[in-house]
Amino acid sequence: MGLLSLLSGLCRWNNNDEENSAARSFILSSVLWLAFVVSLALILATKFVWPDFLGGTAWLSFGRLRPLHVNGALFGWLSMSSTGIMLYILPRLTGVRLYSERLGNLTCLLWNLLLIGASITLPLGYTQGREYAEFILPLDYLFMSILALLGYNVFKTVARMKDKAMYVSLWYFLGSLVWMPFTYMVGNNFLMDTTGLGGRGPVPGVNDAMLNWWYGHNIIGMWFSTLGLGIFYYFLPVLTKNPLYSHRLSLIGFWTLAFFYVWNGQHHLIYGPGPDWLEDVAITFSVLMLIPVFAVVYNFFKTAQGSWHLMFDNSPEHLPVRFFMIGGLAYFLTCTQGPFQALKAVNSNLHLSYWVVAHAHLAFLATFSFISMASIYYVLPRLLNTSINLRLAHWHFWLLCLGLIIFLGILHTAGIVQGAMWLVKLEEYDFVTGSALFKPAVEFIDIVRLLHPFYFTLWLGAGLMATGVMLFVVNVLLTFYKADSPGGRLRSKGA
Ligand code: HEM
Ligand code: HEM
Repeated sequence: MGLLSLLSGLCRWNNNDEENSAARSFILSSVLWLAFVVSLALILATKFVWPDFLGGTAWLSFGRLRPLHVNGALFGWLSMSSTGIMLYILPRLTGVRLYSERLGNLTCLLWNLLLIGASITLPLGYTQGREYAEFILPLDYLFMSILALLGYNVFKTVARMKDKAMYVSLWYFLGSLVWMPFTYMVGNNFLMDTTGLGGRGPVPGVNDAMLNWWYGHNIIGMWFSTLGLGIFYYFLPVLTKNPLYSHRLSLIGFWTLAFFYVWNGQHHLIYGPGPDWLEDVAITFSVLMLIPVFAVVYNFFKTAQGSWHLMFDNSPEHLPVRFFMIGGLAYFLTCTQGPFQALKAVNSNLHLSYWVVAHAHLAFLATFSFISMASIYYVLPRLLNTSINLRLAHWHFWLLCLGLIIFLGILHTAGIVQGAMWLVKLEEYDFVTGSALFKPAVEFIDIVRLLHPFYFTLWLGAGLMATGVMLFVVNVLLTFYKADSPGGRLRSKGA
């Protein structure tokens, strides 16, 4: 029964031309993927404390489920929610309807098929084994087609605009849709036959590490950040009820981000494979990133001035504000942390430690997921003409915040301890011969044992976060259900 209604829902989406229906489909899909990836995250966190949990089954092992969590969170939840919100914003900024709702719904259907494909292939071990580029080749091609369809729809919509002055959000959206297909195509190497047998994917040797991080870094900067910031700039005046402090500053931020971000990739490989000069270039541009970052942050603080009290207002109207403000503050923290950890002396202490995992969640969860959640809370009642459950939303906020404080606090601390221990261990090696200089004072397993209490705290934080996020998912599903129930607005319109 459940499967039947899901299939009929998919067919309805595919063939639906109702205004805003593509935005709705994307938002609904994104929260379903969020529930999935957060369940996986909880399994991962449990395996930290009890490594034998679900042991013995290859497809449930940490190494198989981790890439599914990462790819599902990034390409499922975050990309789809951002796309849905962008499709909601687009007609409001251009003054015209989305070029084709039907095409938007078809894109959403294909996107879901992509993620279903990834959810089967990754646990079965079919992967290209390159971080953030794990999808197998057929899925890569599917994703490229999805990006092409989405780009076509968005550009056609913008082309119909009568007023040619573009608000900064549109710059960010259009930029994302130009840069992402290019980055994905080059980073996943569709262009070069690396095996001589018609193969695509990794390029030989050390070059692949550099290509992989050029790609990995650029999807962070030229897709997730740019989509997220486009949404951020739309909701900043809407939620704070103040006009944007400076349009000029926002455009300076856009162009400097476009110019500086692409040089940063090698900061993921400091003291790693690749030439020294490239590391120096990447570190220099990491510090220069403070310019676009502060353009956003200054605009944020100046626009939000006088509106911070709205965060503490419990009325439904101001519910999104607190999620949004936390997102803005977390962006500030992430992007001041970033240049600092790119410095060689700092990076040698923090690389390959939990600090980096903390940075990743500060960026993707505390910043951009909070901005997406704020936007969904704002958008849903308007799209579905019904209300959100306020009590559930408050529990969502507090549990997620409490969990995040524990999770991020413990990962940062564990990262510092772990980094220091790695350095002690490294001193035992002669890097010329690769042999141990003396009997190690610290064994690998000693580091794992030392971190065990941290893992347990991390697990508690993860549990609170997962509970909070699940309340969000339930709330969104209940809102859709209310709108789709007999007499509800969606059903009466036959959507
Ligand atoms: C000024 C901005 C930023 C700078 C300079 C910066 C710098 C860095 C550096 C140096 C690392 C490598 C750490 C290591 O492995 O030793 C890193 C990792 C990472 N950053 Fe950032 N960051 C910035 C903003 C962001 C933002 C906005 C996001 C997300 C949207 C992000 C997501 C990540 C992720 C996911 C990793 C981990 C990659 C991995 O190893 O899997 N960063 N960042
Ligand atoms: C309840 C919420 C979440 C929990 C408990 C959680 C937990 C975890 C865990 C345990 C890992 C593996 C860390 C390791 O291998 O050492 C991980 C990795 C990762 N997660 Fe999450 N996660 C959550 C939500 C999210 C969301 C919403 C996103 C993105 C939108 C995300 C993005 C990532 C990324 C990019 C990595 C790889 C980090 C790196 O390689 O440095 N996570 N997460």
